[in-house]
Amino acid sequence: MQTLVDGFGRAFPYLRLSLTEACNYRCSYCLPDGYQADGRPKFLALDEIERLVRGFAALGMSKLRLTGGEPSLRKDLPSIIAAVSAVPGIRKVAITTNGCLLPRHIRTWREAGLTALNVSLDSLDPQRFHAITGHDRFAEVTEGVEIALGLGFDSVKLNAVLLRGLNDDELPAWCDYLRERDVAIRFIELMRTGDNRAYFERHHVRAETLEQQLLIAGWSLRPRAPDAGPAREYTHPDYRGRIGVIAPYSKDFCAGCNRLRVTARGDLRLCLFGDFGIALRPLLQSDADHDGLVARIATQLGLKAAGHGLHQGQTGITPHLASIGG
Ligand code: 5AD
Ligand code: SF4
Repeated sequence: MQTLVDGFGRAFPYLRLSLTEACNYRCSYCLPDGYQADGRPKFLALDEIERLVRGFAALGMSKLRLTGGEPSLRKDLPSIIAAVSAVPGIRKVAITTNGCLLPRHIRTWREAGLTALNVSLDSLDPQRFHAITGHDRFAEVTEGVEIALGLGFDSVKLNAVLLRGLNDDELPAWCDYLRERDVAIRFIELMRTGDNRAYFERHHVRAETLEQQLLIAGWSLRPRAPDAGPAREYTHPDYRGRIGVIAPYSKDFCAGCNRLRVTARGDLRLCLFGDFGIALRPLLQSDADHDGLVARIATQLGLKAAGHGLHQGQTGITPHLASIGG
């Protein structure tokens, strides 16, 4: 088997696949006016997704994350989970969801083969949650998380985007939440995208500010595992849960990058903030194109650049993260 390695020695065992650009939330930092369909070609169908995943698996990809938009808006999500879980070589299938459909669907997803769950939860205060996401669904999301904790997932993680003046004073509430629960919360530093420039100026806070509060409160930084994601993980002997910090503006962020992305229309994106996508969809129409698909992916990887240009204010072609899958 070949392995995916780029020109900088980074391996890519991990693919994030967006299933749809549509979302039913209106997160103030992402889609403040809600999702607007644009009439472009439809999102990848089940058979295209299966071929795509077989192509990446042939190159050593073993962990797949399903993202969006909001992936649970796909009616065929249980079939997608079952199909990708059955591809030889795929060991982990995770999903990132806004969580409002969890109480209804999480058991079905688990039975279909889902192994890990990430849920966006930007505030532990229901009113603030409503203000940030545009939806009054705090109760459903937290209920869904409680159900998920009883289903034997490899991991249940929560994501909160750190926002100045909106949720940056909630560390004590999060500590209470984590005391008895086996969950990890990831605080994500707000990223500037094509559409959120003014919002970014108003609400961006540096993740380091939070990390200082963590150290003062007795949390300690874990050594980074070689296959770990981008989060710096903190633990504390008095708490069952863990805290992760994702700081895309920190200096070594890109050196640890082990992920590739494919958009909901089948474009390979080598970096969240890259300037181009590579169309894979033409090679997803028939099983006969498997070798051509593998060759195209392998060639393109050689081009993955050393890092993003966010520090220079370059946001690439990403208008908001719903278009590519956070
Ligand atoms: N900056 C940081 N995180 C973001 N997300 C969406 N847009 C942004 C942004 N501009 C997060 C969502 C979700 C995850 C998939 O990405 O809140 O938790
Ligand atoms: Fe939807 Fe996620 Fe964007 Fe919020 S951040 S609007 S849940 S795609």
